[in-house]
Amino acid sequence: MFRLMALLILGLAVNLNIAKNRNLRLRWSTFECQVHSDYISEYKCDVVQPRRSAFNVELNLLQELKAVKIHSLISTTYTTAGIYQKLFENTLNACRVISQVSRKGIISNIYSSIIKATNQPTKCPISKGLLYYYNISVEEAMPSFVPVSHLMTQVHFFDRNQCYLNITLEGTVSNT
Ligand SMILES: *[C@@H]1O[C@H](CO)[C@@H](O)[C@H](O)[C@H]1NC(C)=O
Ligand SMILES: *[C@@H]1O[C@H](CO)[C@@H](O)[C@H](O)[C@H]1NC(C)=O
Repeated sequence: MFRLMALLILGLAVNLNIAKNRNLRLRWSTFECQVHSDYISEYKCDVVQPRRSAFNVELNLLQELKAVKIHSLISTTYTTAGIYQKLFENTLNACRVISQVSRKGIISNIYSSIIKATNQPTKCPISKGLLYYYNISVEEAMPSFVPVSHLMTQVHFFDRNQCYLNITLEGTVSNT
């Protein structure tokens, strides 16, 4: 598990530079959130205008999150009407990752390149109340294996084994 994490992080670090060289541009066309009403009362999920490369999430948590697991699925298609195919799938222990954000290093660099502003603590449990993430952008951190295409990102968030949030983003990757 640790070895896998290390490889993933190394891969991301290498890809960070490659993506910069490739100058990939990412534009989100749709962004939808689905929430479990036991966990989240109000929420806002918006794409940041006018560039549409970043998005904001605001959640009002009704209960503490104790052990957060994130399952991500990224799919691509090359035509607007095409069928999406899986590009990348990953499950992540988010509590472990965020506990490393406060230390200087590759994880905190990647994290801060993706999330520009948040009030999320860097330790679990995450207490109830307003939780926000502003200007989330994966453009800088986009792995080099992401091809120029239409992209769909589906992310499921779990607290222990209960899904409390699903997000779906669709967009276009192009060369600048
Ligand atoms: C998230 O999506 C899964 C599968 O599509 C579904 O079973 C689950 O109920 C959804 N969760 C929420 C919080 O909407
Ligand atoms: C988000 O990014 C935009 C454009 O770069 C900037 O104007 C805005 O202040 C940022 N908002 C936050 C909360 O960081």
